[in-house]
Amino acid sequence: MVKKVAILANGGDVSGFNAVIRAIVKTAEHNGVECYGYIDGYRGLLKNEFIKLSSRDTASGILTKGGSIIGSSTNANVFNYKVEDNGKIEYKDLSEICVQNVKKEGFDCIFTLGGDSTQKSARDFSLRGLNVIGVPKTIDNDVACTDITFGYNTAVTVATEALDRLHTTAETHDRIMVLEVMGRYAGWIALESGIAGGADAILIPEIPYDIKKTAEAIINRKKIGKNFAIVVVAEGAFPKNGDVEIKNERDNGVGVINVQLGGAGDKVAKELEQLTGLTSRCTVLGYMQRGGTPTSFDRVLSTKYGAKAMELALEGKFNVLTILKNGKLDSVSLEKVVGDNKEIGAVQGGTEESNVRLVTMEDDLVKTAKNIGICLGN
Ligand code: F6P
Repeated sequence: MVKKVAILANGGDVSGFNAVIRAIVKTAEHNGVECYGYIDGYRGLLKNEFIKLSSRDTASGILTKGGSIIGSSTNANVFNYKVEDNGKIEYKDLSEICVQNVKKEGFDCIFTLGGDSTQKSARDFSLRGLNVIGVPKTIDNDVACTDITFGYNTAVTVATEALDRLHTTAETHDRIMVLEVMGRYAGWIALESGIAGGADAILIPEIPYDIKKTAEAIINRKKIGKNFAIVVVAEGAFPKNGDVEIKNERDNGVGVINVQLGGAGDKVAKELEQLTGLTSRCTVLGYMQRGGTPTSFDRVLSTKYGAKAMELALEGKFNVLTILKNGKLDSVSLEKVVGDNKEIGAVQGGTEESNVRLVTMEDDLVKTAKNIGICLGN
């Protein structure tokens, strides 16, 4: 019998975190279950910091609110955690402290709201004896086993609106307007917003691009009298025989992302200007995609995911991820979600072993883009 549960939000913020939290809290309350929220994701689990969540006060009025009322942590791999002691940096497996904290507080289930790294840690905790239920989050839409993550639709909507606005300048000034969107390993945001925003070229990490081919597509437009172009570039896009553009590097150990991407859009804009003779400008959308109020789609999806997660807990179905498959809510074992990334503590997304959901060439979005003549850089 589930009587007391806790939620943690982990990884980069997305619009919809709070809507999931609200749905879990409300479903819990309807079933006489007490609900708590760890502060700052896995860090809260480690420090044993949490608050009581109630639809009357702490979790009231949050459906439309961006961010997460219980915070979220990035780069918190508690299985290989960066510890500084007298200036000496060490990496330690502190997961047992977390397990003991959960047991001490008597939480019957932990809901892990997050992307592939978060769900990998969730699976590792399930092997250490905790009851966990994951809810798939990321604006990148790259969590395995589900058709969609919460936060993604809002990001696509923001990117689409940006493209609509950039179109005006492109058309008025005969320019190439490049929009760099997020998408570290997966190009879903670029692809979907690009189609929605009428892009002429979309460059994604899954298809290493040929800049000459991309320029050719724009020159062909010029030949029919279209002296402007809209190009969407995922931050993780890179040229054939080239590398991703890196803005910053840090050392937070293995199992977390140590590289901040940036510059892919600028590079494409400069090269296209040289090759086509059209003035090019790049806009980096950045964190605009992750913040602010969720779209109605994300509000509903997040509510469905949260309510389903609590329903699963009430049924005693643990160590699973709530998913949406072919329009239906379902769940899948966390073991399946991590795929071949089996080693406990090795959580970084986008590595060879990790199981992120990338755009495939068979996807309807790719086929649609090709059918209507959008250049995918190849
Ligand atoms: O994982 C989602 C994401 O939006 C990536 O596309 C992006 O590279 C990353 O977050 C940036 O996160 P931060 O700057 O917060 O580390």
